[in-house]
Amino acid sequence: MLNKSNLMATNRSIIIKTEGLTKKFGEFTAVDNVSFEVQRGEVVGYLGPNGSGKTTTIRMLCGLLHPSSGHAQVNGLDIVHNTEAIKRQIGYMSQKFALYDDLTVLENLQFYAGVYEIPRATEKQQIDKILEMAGLTTRQKSISSELSGGWRQRLALGCALVHNPILLFLDEPTSGVDPVARREFWDLIYNLAHEGTTIFVTTHYMDEAEHCGRVGFMSNGRLLAFDTPRALKSHYLHGAAWAIAATPLLETVDILSHIPGVAQASMHGDLAQVILADEKTTLQTLTETLKANGIAVGKAELVEATLEDVFVLLAHKQG
Ligand SMILES: Nc1ncnc2c1ncn2[C@@H]1O[C@H](COP(=O)(O)OP(=O)(O)O)[C@@H](O)[C@H]1O
Ligand SMILES: [Mg+2]
Repeated sequence: MLNKSNLMATNRSIIIKTEGLTKKFGEFTAVDNVSFEVQRGEVVGYLGPNGSGKTTTIRMLCGLLHPSSGHAQVNGLDIVHNTEAIKRQIGYMSQKFALYDDLTVLENLQFYAGVYEIPRATEKQQIDKILEMAGLTTRQKSISSELSGGWRQRLALGCALVHNPILLFLDEPTSGVDPVARREFWDLIYNLAHEGTTIFVTTHYMDEAEHCGRVGFMSNGRLLAFDTPRALKSHYLHGAAWAIAATPLLETVDILSHIPGVAQASMHGDLAQVILADEKTTLQTLTETLKANGIAVGKAELVEATLEDVFVLLAHKQG
């Protein structure tokens, strides 16, 4: 039975809800009729090539841009009418995050604590907690401009967290950071999620997306799919792509990519890897076409699909 109290509980667990969210810049539609829900505590990856509308979506959800049409709520608050209340509850690490280069690590955090009006009585304790979380305690007196990319990223994260937001938007937080720092940054994100912060993160690193609870794929302003990595792979690719041994390899890839129903053919080491866009095109179609073109075809096997494969397929279907 759905009584009033558990109806409210259900509503409370939805932290982001968008319905037909759309943003136009003049004639150009940057975000096109996007609808999704995020539950409290999720780590959601928002993927898509440059210009696909990821940042514009986030800016609307943060109350920085008004939608042209459609609606969205953040923690039950309307993004147009409750902007100020939303800002107090969310953290936003933008793609071009602003640190004050000539201030120290500590001074940057103190500045943001001021912006968010953290009470004086709790400020020191809160900043110490952030320094420790970000591993910046021993660097608190360092001038920000002298930090490496990875440490700057951590400081920017700390600044976005200084007011204990329940929802954190991270816009390409790890672009330009070395692989080790990238992994360490993700450890921080998981810790935050573990403690209950909802994370909405854009990335174009597919390995990062594999670690998100659910993933949304944006392309040309449209949200093409939104599900768990496992469900996306099994739904769109039945979990697998074909790897085919054939020589000459370059010609093989070229022929394969021209076969109708092939979303993508590419070289993976000394094999050709094929993502099929429809069920009518079978392995037999592929090998017969190759042989008819004088290619020596060897073994073919199913390999585990990646999210990148799914994205290629979805983009192919859309285009
Ligand atoms: N303020 C703006 N005015 C005009 N066009 C914009 C503006 N902001 C973004 N766009 C355009 O909207 C599209 C989506 O941009 P964006 O949301 O930044 O994409 P992403 O973050 O996925 O790279 C791009 O083509 C971009 O040039
Ligand atoms: Mg962007």
